[in-house]
Amino acid sequence: MAEEFNIVQGTKEEQYQALLPQLQALVAGEHDLIANMANISAVLKTQFDFFWVGFYIAKANELVLGPFQGPVACTRIIKGNGVCGTAWERAETLVVPNVDTFPGHIACNAQSKSEIVVPVVKHGDVIAVLDVDSEYLNHFDETDAAYLAKVVALLAQ
Ligand code: SME
Repeated sequence: MAEEFNIVQGTKEEQYQALLPQLQALVAGEHDLIANMANISAVLKTQFDFFWVGFYIAKANELVLGPFQGPVACTRIIKGNGVCGTAWERAETLVVPNVDTFPGHIACNAQSKSEIVVPVVKHGDVIAVLDVDSEYLNHFDETDAAYLAKVVALLAQ
């Protein structure tokens, strides 16, 4: 198992492209979801210095906080609530340029200004979501959505 990670330079797209094979190597041969979520969170935090990056895991009718990097966060989110619960319910990625304009946004930390939530789909079910928060407005775009979808797909192999 790869236990090192090299920070890469370049445009955001170049960074994601260089990151993917490293993440692939990191999770290869390890089937434990929590372990892989933990390392993926660490890599994304190290590479992009996101304010908060981590996973919420679907359990019954709630999302429960999983591995993450960043400040302490809300532990449970009911399906349909907040950005995370909405992304889970709709089974789609949500890019929120300004969290204050998202109805029902759950403010775990007042410093978070924009957010992206990407569902983790396995065998057709959303088993978790990847949540990334930024302290800057308009931080996430379609490039993040496209590449973070590839990142979470590594968890469903
Ligand atoms: N803002 C999220 C809650 C999770 S924290 O940002 C880590 C939401 O509205 O679902």
